[in-house]
Parts: sequence; structure tokens; C-alpha cells
Amino acid sequence: MAIVTSTEMFKKAYEGGYAIGAFNVNNMEIIQGITEAAMEERSPLILQVSSGARKYAKHVYLMKLIEAAIEDAEQSAGFDLPICIHLDHGDTFELCKSCIDGGFTSVMIDGSSKSFEDNIALTRKVVEYAHDHGVVVEGELGTLAGVEDDVNVSFEDSSYTRPEEVEEFVSKTGVDSLAIAIGTSHGAYKFTADQCTRNEEGLLVPPPLRFDILEEIARRLPGFPIVLHGSSSVPQEFVKIINEFGGKMPDAVGIPESQLRQAAQGAVCKINIDSDLRLAMTASIRRHFGQHPDHFDPRQYLKPGRESIKAMVRHKLVNVLGCAGKA
Ligand code: G3H
Ligand code: 13P
Ligand code: ZN
Repeated sequence: MAIVTSTEMFKKAYEGGYAIGAFNVNNMEIIQGITEAAMEERSPLILQVSSGARKYAKHVYLMKLIEAAIEDAEQSAGFDLPICIHLDHGDTFELCKSCIDGGFTSVMIDGSSKSFEDNIALTRKVVEYAHDHGVVVEGELGTLAGVEDDVNVSFEDSSYTRPEEVEEFVSKTGVDSLAIAIGTSHGAYKFTADQCTRNEEGLLVPPPLRFDILEEIARRLPGFPIVLHGSSSVPQEFVKIINEFGGKMPDAVGIPESQLRQAAQGAVCKINIDSDLRLAMTASIRRHFGQHPDHFDPRQYLKPGRESIKAMVRHKLVNVLGCAGKA
């Protein structure tokens, strides 16, 4: 059984100039699509669960499904797929404790909406409990724009991480990794049209990530793993299929993959991807219904949904994160 913390994964990723993909999971097909991709690419993997996912599927179902995926990897591929099970955007000590007690090997405590002092106090409390139980902790400084759970942070209310705060935050809290804000954003609409330019095909081109801030943080925290949230690329081929088959997602835009690749080569060891999973699955299911209006067996459309997730994740592992072959 290879349920592990992210400690070893991050150490190797930092030294090797690649990042680990942290993919959000909500049901069996999503877990299977992601883990089959990781198995075939022999990639270390983080499966992360939001509080919304826990409410939707229940903690116990997600744990058992992940355990089943690991067992399947052992039996069919003959190797131990190292998987870290992580709480995404924990907002209270109680939620983090419940996930730690329930078998997760990593938790995020997201105190980014609090004052610097309150963020430190809450994060420190979670770290003490987590470390006593062999679990690692991700903290956050700076606020991303976008939608996560029921919280919608506007671009005006978002704020970049202040590099001058990171050393104090890390040393006072004892966190094992730090999520930062350098211009990524949650969801499928990361930027408004007036924040972007348009290319010759009329597609939106977002403002570049603030690599200057990332570099300054990396200089202040040498060897320390940095995390990027809101890192879906919103592939336009999925948006096109969704719009062709009855959907309505005008001007959906994400982070260019070339910039994520660049971040992965430096201090960024964990890259969070959720929206691209949703888009891959929705595009293939919409297309399936468009092409087979008579189908009503969920297996008929969930199978291509799962396959589409698998193909998208394989592409990320190989071409964006650079972690294929590192398990
Ligand atoms: O950052 C948020 C993730 O995309 C999780 O989304 O809270 O809707 O499950 P969710
Ligand atoms: P995306 O919405 O860009 O996929 O971000 C997911 C995320 O940050 C989960 O914590
Ligand atoms: Zn996030």
C-alpha cells in the first residue's frame, strides 16, 4: 500500500526540476482516470479532496476508492503507485483534524483570507496536530482570484504574495509547503476580457504570471516547496466541444502551459488542477450525448468521460509537470 506524504515527492521534484500534479477528485471515474494515467506514466501523484468533494461523495467513499486505485495499480501494473491524499483548501482546524484522523497524509489550511497574525496562529495549530500524526501541511499567503467552493474572490480583492512575509510565516508556522499568489486564479474564467489581449484567432491571451515574485520567494526560502493553485490551462479544444454540443462557455481562459512548465522547473513542486478535469469530462460527455441521443446507460457516457480525463492527465504529467517516469 503506497499512501505516502508529499515530503519525498517534493524533495525529488525540487532537485529534479519538475512538479507533482495535484488533481481534485469527486467520484470513481475521476479517480480511475487520474490514477490510470499516473500508473501508465509511472508518476508520483497527489489526489486532493475539497470540502465540497467530501460533502458530495463522503470521506469514506473517497478513501476507499483511492485505496482501490492503489490496489489496482499493484495488481495490474505490478508496482506501488505513490499517492498522497490531500485536503484542498481546509478552512478550519476541525476540518483538518477530521481529515488527518480519517487517513489523509497531507492537509492544506487556507488562512489566506485572515490577517497575517491570525493566519499564522491557525496554521501553527494545524501543523502541531498534523506533525504529531505524521501528516504534512500546506499553508497559503496571498489571495487568488476566482471561484472555489462557494467563495468568489474578485480580481480587485485578490493580492499577490508579499515576498517579505514568507520567511516569518514559514518559520513561525512550521508548514511543509507554501501556496502563493503570482497571478493564477481558480475556475474556468481566470481573467476578464479587459485583463487580456487577443491573438490573431480572437482568443484571449492572459497577463503573464509574476515570475519575479516567485523568484524572490524562492531566493528567500531556498529548497522550500512552493505550490501553485488555480493552474488549469482551460484547453480551448474542450471549450470548443462544449460550445459545439449545447454548452455555453464564452471567453473561458486559463494559464498557458508553457508558463506552468517554467514554474515546475523552479521552486514550484505542486501544481493544482481541477477545472481542466471538469472540462475534459464535460466535453466528452456533451459530445457523446450529441452523437448518441438515444443513449441512457450512464456507463455509455461515463466511460468516454473517464478516458478523456486519463488522456488529459497523461498530457499534463508528460508535457507540463515533467513528472512522468519519476515514481
Ligand atoms: O480550488 C477549488 C477546487 O477547484 C475545488 O473546487 O470546492 O468546487 O470542489 P470545489
Ligand atoms: P483550477 O480551477 O485552475 O483547476 O484550480 C484548482 C485548484 O487550485 C484547487 O485547489
Ligand atoms: Zn486552490
